[in-house]
Amino acid sequence: MRVGILTSGGDCQSLNATMRALVLSLYEQFGQELSIYGILDGYYGLIHEKYQEMEVKDFEGILRLGGTILGTSRQPFKNMRKIGEDGINKVEAMKKTYKKMKLDCLVVLGGNGSMKTANLLSQEGLSVIGLPKTIDNDLWGSQVTFGFHSALEVVTRELDCIYTTATSHSRIMLVELMGHKVGWLALYGGIAGGADVILIPEIPYDFDQVKEAIKKKIALGKKQILLAVAEGAISKEDAELSKEERKSRMQNKPVEVLAKKLEEHFQREVRVTVPGHVQRGGMPNGYDRVLASRFGAMAGKMIKEKEYGNLVGIDKGQIKKIPLSEVAGKLKLVDPKDDVVTQAKLMGISFGD
Ligand code: F6P
Repeated sequence: MRVGILTSGGDCQSLNATMRALVLSLYEQFGQELSIYGILDGYYGLIHEKYQEMEVKDFEGILRLGGTILGTSRQPFKNMRKIGEDGINKVEAMKKTYKKMKLDCLVVLGGNGSMKTANLLSQEGLSVIGLPKTIDNDLWGSQVTFGFHSALEVVTRELDCIYTTATSHSRIMLVELMGHKVGWLALYGGIAGGADVILIPEIPYDFDQVKEAIKKKIALGKKQILLAVAEGAISKEDAELSKEERKSRMQNKPVEVLAKKLEEHFQREVRVTVPGHVQRGGMPNGYDRVLASRFGAMAGKMIKEKEYGNLVGIDKGQIKKIPLSEVAGKLKLVDPKDDVVTQAKLMGISFGD
């Protein structure tokens, strides 16, 4: 059994933990029959034949290690079928490398874009298994992705720190949180970090509502006001613009624009913090280590049973498989009527709607 593994797209905290579990599980299923190949730097390595044979012991000690021992890269799906300046046909090159390596299966640890390519390769006849990675938690087909809970922990600590300084200075503080086009991290992080206002792309906000919510908190005698703002958060006004108009508006960072408006209105000091890639770095937390282990272990079993063309996911606590063709191209957005949103609103957190 020859298995190739690659990690693709933005990294996250439990990529290594997932690969370790996968390899341990594969070893349990196949013993000495197992050959493992690490493909370096994501799909780039598969296109350019960058890989190395690895042993089970190479995956020892990485349960707690952030990042990915294989390296990663972004290879946008939209360019996969385009021939670039280098003249390389990327899809054919990947198929060629797979054949040259004599793989029986390719395991892809990745998010949305990576699963689209995994599905493409599966439809091209390769045996592929997907594992759901991303701090954004936006991958369709799995209720939770690995990386999300570790990032949530970083965000929570970040907001805890902002809280103390915001209190000392009686400031309004905005924290811009990652999540690409979705608001999961801002939603959960905002609640965990005690934000007064949470702004997410799925619920376009009205500035007047945000103002009212802040006024209400100030009237309670609150010194510090915290806003958890998803990087994709958008005002109702901007949501109605065409894509082009919105793009040119976005040249001024929306979070900065909002901060300026709040400063002008409240005549208080307002500050913006952008934790950025800190959210993806460092060790996986306990929750993610367990989730990663369950996902990796199940992927090993699925390879034994030749259940290719599937993503390993989780639903209501149960690990399950879902066809890559059903996952590819779909985003898992926050439903504005989600229970978590409802309960946040019940305790007075404003979403600006
Ligand atoms: O997908 C993970 C993510 O961290 C997003 O939250 C963020 O929008 C993006 O990647 C940042 O990408 P990059 O690391 O390429 O700057």
